[in-house]
Amino acid sequence: MADILQPTADNIRLVVDSLRAGEVLGLPTETVYGLAANALDVSACSSIFEIKGRPLIDPLIVHVDGLAAAGSLAVWNDQARVLAEHFWPGPLTIVLPKLPLVPDLVTAGLPSVALRSPAHPVMRAVLEESGLPLAAPSANRFAALSPTTAQHVEEGLGNRLEYILDGGPCSVGVESTIVDLRCSGQARILRPGAIEAYELEQALGRPVLYGAAIKSSSEERQVAPGNLDKHYCPRTPLYFLQNHCDIAQPDDGNIAVVYFKRPLPALNLRQHQHPRPAHIYWLSEDGDLATAARCLYALLHRLDALNYTAIWIELAPDWGIGKAINDRLKRAATC
Ligand code: TXA
Ligand code: MG
Repeated sequence: MADILQPTADNIRLVVDSLRAGEVLGLPTETVYGLAANALDVSACSSIFEIKGRPLIDPLIVHVDGLAAAGSLAVWNDQARVLAEHFWPGPLTIVLPKLPLVPDLVTAGLPSVALRSPAHPVMRAVLEESGLPLAAPSANRFAALSPTTAQHVEEGLGNRLEYILDGGPCSVGVESTIVDLRCSGQARILRPGAIEAYELEQALGRPVLYGAAIKSSSEERQVAPGNLDKHYCPRTPLYFLQNHCDIAQPDDGNIAVVYFKRPLPALNLRQHQHPRPAHIYWLSEDGDLATAARCLYALLHRLDALNYTAIWIELAPDWGIGKAINDRLKRAATC
């Protein structure tokens, strides 16, 4: 079992010493919890891959304490600088040509590096006090559900970690938006997140390509190799609820149905619309997208623990952070 540490000044120092000594630990960010190590320490970073069970072809995001700290890691261009100035610290990861200081292991041999300056005050304190760039994928076993609390990290990886720093529940709840700016002329979103395409376009004053147009090409697989079709999966089979009659379940099945917003009236719905008795949940009371994103992984972790035979879930409206919710759900779905 890992020690779950409260973010006191003493514990921040303890964590920083541990990172300097080449340890891997669980740290909070505003998106999801990260499995962090010194990005310049090849042996520590190889432990990240080993602990996660992550293939070496899937590169790690490097977390930095702002733009100044990222100068020696990548070749910056004007557009990337504009985005970093606008959205950092925050849930935006920028992919740029890498400089030699970044180990090839971290970037899975790619000539590019993904950089993010997170907003979570506890993570910022660790970055500031250590002065280190920190490689950190989400702190879960490869392809499993991302963690949004210290307890989720403990449940998934606690037997492999000495420390998890507790920064409370993540305020965003889904992973960062990843934007490719290796070519200064054209920004491309590789993974949707809380920062939306239109916000990037407003900041840059020009259009941004969105993954859908480029996702199927084999080149895209090389640009964002970890963007797998199957990912972020609960243990329980997950299906989309498009129509209440969709729900097919053996008679003895115990299923969970998750609505995007609280269904009204719940009782009526249970009696008239579901062919089988189901346990009803929802991601937000009133359809607020940010709340739904914040609650998504926590609810799926909870439903996994309740051992349902299946989860039927409604997709979110496909705008704003709803795009990120749906992206994760589509990769998590059983079919
Ligand atoms: O919000 C987040 O981004 C969280 C927190 C911990 O910061 N991190 C996260 O990391 O989601 P992870 O490992 O689950 O996702 C990293 C993904 C890779 O799978 C890949 O798609 C992309 O980031 N990536 C990393 N380095 C890259 C590179 N050099 N070029 C292109 N894509 C890269
Ligand atoms: Mg992940």
